[in-house]
Amino acid sequence: MTKTLAFPRPEPEESRAGTASDALIEPHGGHLVDLLAAPQRAAELKAASRDWPSWDLTPRQTSDLELLLDGSFSPLTGFLGRADHDAVCAGMRLADGTLWPIPITLDVPRALADTLAPGKSMLALRDAEGVMLAALHVEELWEPDLAADAQAVYGTTDPTHPGVAYLLERTQPVFVAGRLEGLQAPAHYDFHALRLRPAELRAEIAREGWRRVVAFQTRNPMHRAHCELTLRAAKEAQANLLIHPTVGMTKPRDLDHYTRVRCYQAVLHRFPQHTAKLALLGLAMRMGGPREALLHAIIRKNFGCTHFIVGRDHAGPGRDAAGRPFYGPYDAQELLRAHEAELGVTMVPFKQLVYVEDLDTYFPDDEVPAGKRTLDLSGTELRRRLADGREIPGWFTFPEVAEELRRTHPPRHQQGFTVFLSGLSGAGKSTIANVLVVKFMEMGGRPVTLLDGDIVRKHLSSELNFSKEHRDINIRRIGFVASEITRNGGIAICAPIAPYDAVRKEVRGMIEPGGGFMLVHVATSIEICEERDRKGLYAKARAGLIKEFTGISDPYEAPADAEVTIDAGALSPEQAAQEILLYLEREGYLGASMTAQS
Ligand code: PPS
Repeated sequence: MTKTLAFPRPEPEESRAGTASDALIEPHGGHLVDLLAAPQRAAELKAASRDWPSWDLTPRQTSDLELLLDGSFSPLTGFLGRADHDAVCAGMRLADGTLWPIPITLDVPRALADTLAPGKSMLALRDAEGVMLAALHVEELWEPDLAADAQAVYGTTDPTHPGVAYLLERTQPVFVAGRLEGLQAPAHYDFHALRLRPAELRAEIAREGWRRVVAFQTRNPMHRAHCELTLRAAKEAQANLLIHPTVGMTKPRDLDHYTRVRCYQAVLHRFPQHTAKLALLGLAMRMGGPREALLHAIIRKNFGCTHFIVGRDHAGPGRDAAGRPFYGPYDAQELLRAHEAELGVTMVPFKQLVYVEDLDTYFPDDEVPAGKRTLDLSGTELRRRLADGREIPGWFTFPEVAEELRRTHPPRHQQGFTVFLSGLSGAGKSTIANVLVVKFMEMGGRPVTLLDGDIVRKHLSSELNFSKEHRDINIRRIGFVASEITRNGGIAICAPIAPYDAVRKEVRGMIEPGGGFMLVHVATSIEICEERDRKGLYAKARAGLIKEFTGISDPYEAPADAEVTIDAGALSPEQAAQEILLYLEREGYLGASMTAQS
């Protein structure tokens, strides 16, 4: 483990809070770490940092730093050095033997690492806005074998695993370690009252007189099964309940944490008064399955919890490239059971709960009375029902939770969407786009924005040329604007050439999380486009006066993933627009839905 601080620092808050909290479970390693420097020292560091190199932390690094500074990761006192890192990868222990399952490291680019001298340099760690959060005494720099790390920690190098993908695709090549001095915790402007540091939560637990506390970790809204499960866990363990959802990075495509927190708040009144509490944890999850379950338990111990709920497929990363689960459904329970005694945290294991219709009760899936029908609603079906504005059954989720989910996921006919027309110059994209604008204006209800190729080139991308690099920048800009429009409930009609498949897919990925995306290939042949040559550009391109002209001297990658393909040589602009409108209607984006809820 990296060495502890040599600088004077304030007493840990735990001891400031008084003796009541001394009776709580000991933090991991016996002492609650607090790396925030005293105000005077913080001011000194800030002044000295003028001459230091800086690193703007990524969101995950910012989360890790937050948990290091406030002691959630006790007994860690900094990003891991090589000896600790290697020991954690190999045997889930720090170099001194303390149980620790996942390396917490700081990765930086080689160019920055080259400016650092171990034992001499200081590195200023800043948030995305450039605010200095901590000073790192650079003690060690090394280049890890990231694939080996993935294999050791996650048991796979398959990038379908989000933790592996992060390591292999988003991790900088050099790890830097050394002791940390915190200047300030990362700023959060949301849910202040619920973001409790370990020392604060410990103090509250002590004040409330809670002696046994069972923690529930989640990255999903709490539906009825989760409420049943947590209530039973609390009863079984004769303990108070801490609902402790993760609101840092979770699994890609998870529901945003604002909606989730509103769901937790909405359902809190269902738990007996004075027995349950809600607090938020800014952890960046790795989806590391069993090893991550162990990390979760350690963190909760640091927050003063004596018990920890582990259900089916805890912190599971989903399925691998071949469609198989990465871990067994109860591997996490097994790993925790093996370390329960050493950790001093009691695991409360749970099987999957399923709803038995006749008895209006949830049962563990292996205890369902014989012959009884069970009901289930998959995540995909829930999203489909929300998109269509259909009923969310009360046995699945409480109405107050369904209400919150509906606010975030209005039915499709109330969502924004993007129609993205791609095709050669002169294919007819702009004319079809103009017809669509008029049709949508006639329908009303949503603001309409046209991002035509020429218009964008004039106003947004005037400095760009037609190289592949600049075309991609142009399309990304269009995608960004369209994603903002879509997310906010509007209609964006884009009509650039967009000749490259990869960047079109990127744009789809930017837009789809916030609403609808429809790629329309305006597939007019090069012969027809050239024959029409409305702007005289083809003649110029043939004469070599325009370089890199799409279809003549530059490629066009025809999309294989278009929702609609239009042969504008055969269809009039009105007819082409109708094809697009019919698709949108079929997908539920137009007009009123006939369901009772809408
Ligand atoms: S791209 O590839 O999507 O960035 O192109 P885009 O911004 O849509 O192009 C806008 C218009 O620029 C004219 N133009 C060219 N097109 C293709 N290749 C070259 N080299 C070129 N130079 C100028 C062309 O008229 C495009 O408009 P449309 O509406 O497609 O005809």
